[in-house]
Amino acid sequence: MNINQQLGKLKRGIFRIKKIPRFLILLIATIATIQFLILPALTQQPVKVQVLMSALEASQWQPFVEDFEEENPDINLEIREGPRATDAVEDLYSSAFLLGDSPFDLVYLDIVWVSKFAAAGWLMPLSDRITEDELSKFLQGDVNGGRYNGELYRMPFRSDGGMLYYRTDLLEQGGYEPPETFNELMQISQALQQQTGVEWGYIWQGKQYEGLSAMFIEILEGFGGFWVNPDTLAVGLDQPEAIEAVNFLLNTIEEGISPPGVTTYTEEETRLLFQNGKTVFLRNWPYVYDLASQPEESDIAGEFAIKPMVHQPSHSSGACQGGWGLGISKLTKHPDEAWKVIEFFNRPDVQKRFSLATGYAPALKSLYTDSELVAKYSYFPQLLEVLEKAVLRPPIAQYAQTSDILQRYLSAAITKTMTPEQAMNRAAQETRRLLGD
Ligand code: GLC
Repeated sequence: MNINQQLGKLKRGIFRIKKIPRFLILLIATIATIQFLILPALTQQPVKVQVLMSALEASQWQPFVEDFEEENPDINLEIREGPRATDAVEDLYSSAFLLGDSPFDLVYLDIVWVSKFAAAGWLMPLSDRITEDELSKFLQGDVNGGRYNGELYRMPFRSDGGMLYYRTDLLEQGGYEPPETFNELMQISQALQQQTGVEWGYIWQGKQYEGLSAMFIEILEGFGGFWVNPDTLAVGLDQPEAIEAVNFLLNTIEEGISPPGVTTYTEEETRLLFQNGKTVFLRNWPYVYDLASQPEESDIAGEFAIKPMVHQPSHSSGACQGGWGLGISKLTKHPDEAWKVIEFFNRPDVQKRFSLATGYAPALKSLYTDSELVAKYSYFPQLLEVLEKAVLRPPIAQYAQTSDILQRYLSAAITKTMTPEQAMNRAAQETRRLLGD
């Protein structure tokens, strides 16, 4: 067949196609559109992304989850409610990962879980998803707390730092300036307990749980001591400064400045005592500020202020760096959807609204000078200063066991089952054994 014959055949073929009735072509096109475009879109379920957090925080997140889903109709963000204490939530996540079948796509991590979870291989690295420039907009301690071995595993959502709350009305009544040192805190407490009849001087978290370690490192820092050096794994719990720190806590109980029951208190019990006007001083996190400022809930609204923790004259104060943020589970099938959730909760407008609604400290630095936030929380610029100097609990893979040991022996010392020396010597020995010394 020559070229002309071939062309002729092709034309006849095209002619034959042209002969196919229009309606048939339309029908085929319609069926194809339904089958390949419309049906999948209609039957495709949104991707489910799950995360676990304390029931309290889950309820605070809910309105934001709704906003997220409205903006991302293809993602269904499901928050599972867990217990209140950080250790208890950590246990639930850990068991799920150990079973190798975690239902959680996202992990809402306390800053102190990062090393353990990253070392165990439970989290995906995030540094490919965000630039250092973007990261520099967040508080440095919060970002650093999300790294392990130089890799980023957690994006900070909200920051936390321990601080000293004090009753401005009582201090004024007694003619006192807010205390700077441990001794001043003890003296002012005792004087005001006598002069004003306020029941207690100083309330702190003494229950055997993570909050005890968090509170203790602030006292330790104020005495110039250290717990574990993350670089050398040296342990400082049996050093004189650490024993002095434990003695300070014990003295607050023995001198009637803190109630004996303080050894069973977590954050919430201490907040309620402060709000009910039962104490001059309180150690707690920023979330208390908003709650204690509400006249319907609090007897001391407008009668208190915050400042950095007290310290020895020769040392400076240390706030414990706390805080929460999101990581992506190594087991998730939906890392990109999970990242979309992280991006949403990192947005300045979302962090701002969340902070306005709850009083939590945002992780984005610029919000501490945001006019609307400062109008509501006049202490925010000061809080920023506290957070910028916050001290991390040792970011080591064995943190959970290290903290368990400290909690056990601190509890023994403050409940007088052991002397501070005995307790801290044993705590140091056990920690050294754990860290392989
Ligand atoms: C707060 C802090 C967290 C800390 C916990 C202790 O939630 O943000 O870092 O571990 O309190 O109770």
